[in-house]
Amino acid sequence: AIDSNFEANRERVGEEDGVAVWGPVEPPEKQGIRGTHVAVDFDICLADGACLEDCPVDVFEWTDTPGHPESERKANPADEDQCIDCMLCVDVCPVDAIDVDPG
Ligand code: SF4
Ligand code: F3S
Repeated sequence: AIDSNFEANRERVGEEDGVAVWGPVEPPEKQGIRGTHVAVDFDICLADGACLEDCPVDVFEWTDTPGHPESERKANPADEDQCIDCMLCVDVCPVDAIDVDPG
């Protein structure tokens, strides 16, 4: 499962499409965690798609990760600012790749 303390345990290595990137990032095998309020561990996500289907405010969009061992696309929390903390995505992800911090 995603480390819910990633902000303390990982280094913020940059930003992509307005979404924070938390390392380590070594493409294509290591893609890191994306997002802060809504965070997705790209190295755990296997492109199930339930989060994209179920999020009531369409926070997620697909982003391509060619060559990644789990899946060649990931759910990027591109519109995490829109999140209403319903926790649906956290509940439906089969591999617990998502952390939402209502703080
Ligand atoms: Fe969308 Fe709810 Fe997940 Fe926020 S907690 S990203 S609103 S499904
Ligand atoms: Fe990935 Fe889980 Fe969404 S596997 S596509 S983060 S439901």
